[in-house]
Amino acid sequence: MANKETVSRTLIVALALCIVCSVVVSTAAVMLKPAQVTNQNLDIKSNILAAAGMLEAGATPADIEEQFQRFEVRLLDLDTGEYVDPQSVGFEDAMKYDMYKAASDPALSTVLGSSEDPAGIKRRPNVAKIFILTENGELQRVVLPVHGYGLWSTLYGFVSLEGDANTIEGLGFYSHAETPGLGGEVDNPRWKQQWVGKTVYGDQAGQPEIRLVKGGVDPNDPNGEHRVDALSGATLTSRGVENLLNYWMGENGYATFLQKLRQGEV
Ligand SMILES: Cc1cc2nc3c(=O)[nH]c(=O)nc-3n(C[C@H](O)[C@H](O)[C@H](O)COP(=O)(O)O)c2cc1C
Repeated sequence: MANKETVSRTLIVALALCIVCSVVVSTAAVMLKPAQVTNQNLDIKSNILAAAGMLEAGATPADIEEQFQRFEVRLLDLDTGEYVDPQSVGFEDAMKYDMYKAASDPALSTVLGSSEDPAGIKRRPNVAKIFILTENGELQRVVLPVHGYGLWSTLYGFVSLEGDANTIEGLGFYSHAETPGLGGEVDNPRWKQQWVGKTVYGDQAGQPEIRLVKGGVDPNDPNGEHRVDALSGATLTSRGVENLLNYWMGENGYATFLQKLRQGEV
């Protein structure tokens, strides 16, 4: 009987197995891509609703879609504080625009020098994607994406402001790699609850005044409405959160737009 265990047969079997496996893996990757994109979009929508205090416990994907439909998705020129047509950045639909992809495109973003970059983002997209909720012509909520560097990672999240474009309705980060139990406590619901009702701006409308206070906010602090307890054992992440919020609420972020919004100019 001829020997079946030759080197060439072994190589052919190994090669055939590799081809079959790679076809299976790539087919699965291609077929699962739409489901992945749908789930990612759903996750972003649920984070927007969570920041806005509109995510019910146990909400189904259909509930999330329904609630999210109440928001208008708008693109915003950060320098002028005016809305822009999605087609000006090459999109039919505002929802399809990705401001984080735009941040890595030199034609759609601006390089930040170190003195103008307290959030450590290096490049800022020229156009942001924001979410507006109005009822009977009255602004109810505006949800703004924010991001910036903590200790180990860039934190990505949303801040929701009430109709006065100043009072915080909620804040949440949906992506970061800070240490669980230390910087990762940015996800702790009790810590996040502290933000509800705080205000971004004081007397100077364009100047954000958010501070995270190490050791806890003094109840008699006259500026308590802009203050939140820093995360214990995570001063560096806390500083990152303070910096990124003040950056995005400042003149290079949303301040121009929010001022126009308060004055009814947009
Ligand atoms: C393994 C390890 C992980 C850490 N992770 C964080 C973190 O995610 N965020 C943070 O601010 N500090 C983190 N720290 C602590 C910082 O090095 C630093 O000590 C801390 O921010 C100081 O905060 P405190 O003044 O409140 O103690 C970590 C330290 C170690 C050893």
